[in-house]
Amino acid sequence: MRRDAWWLELLPVIFLLGAFGIYATLRAFEGNYYEWGPYLSPFYSPLIDPHHRWWPFSPALLILIWPLGFRVTCYYYRKAYYRAFFLDPPACAVSEHRKHRYRGETGFPFILQNLHRYFLYAGFIFLIFLWRDAFRAFFFDGRIGVGVGTLVMLFNVILLTTYALSCHSLRHIVGGKLDCFSCAAFGGSRHKAWRWLSLLNERHMLYAWISLITVGLTDLYIRLVASGAITDLRLL
Ligand code: FES
Repeated sequence: MRRDAWWLELLPVIFLLGAFGIYATLRAFEGNYYEWGPYLSPFYSPLIDPHHRWWPFSPALLILIWPLGFRVTCYYYRKAYYRAFFLDPPACAVSEHRKHRYRGETGFPFILQNLHRYFLYAGFIFLIFLWRDAFRAFFFDGRIGVGVGTLVMLFNVILLTTYALSCHSLRHIVGGKLDCFSCAAFGGSRHKAWRWLSLLNERHMLYAWISLITVGLTDLYIRLVASGAITDLRLL
């Protein structure tokens, strides 16, 4: 019965997630132009078997499942793509077309969404590699320097870290599941950490989108530099 243009909010989700999905898939299968000088694309980090000694395909395919699983099972993205791609439901207070018994995420395959917290743990391991990559981007042939790519990689890893720290699962693990902080071990520190994470968590949707865009643009920048389409500007 909603008379406003509720479907308008689905369009950017369809466009952005669709465009990112197509671009990331093409890039993951491309297996080329993923590094230049000290820069390494986040789609290929950590870089495993780049010389194809035992893995004949693109190295990105060896690691893709982890960042992909983290995003796909994210509570915010679930809401976004259930609405935009499955119209299930299409929006708040808009009924579904098909009648079916609501089972939440208790049956296969949606029960797999509960793996999110494990993807979060893996995500932190990936962040260590991405911070290492950002650090390495400050060194050109053994000398300290800063190029546009350095700043792009640094900005990207900061946003990816912010996105991970604003995760609902992390907030739950740190303190959300407690009824009484003063009764729990390390209650004081957990309460402090929970309050900080709650501040980030309030903007989880924003960080989800910005980090998605920056990770795609970081890869695109490195691809353009590596393929010779543009030149990396050295700032220092
Ligand atoms: S809920 Fe979105 S990353 Fe965990």
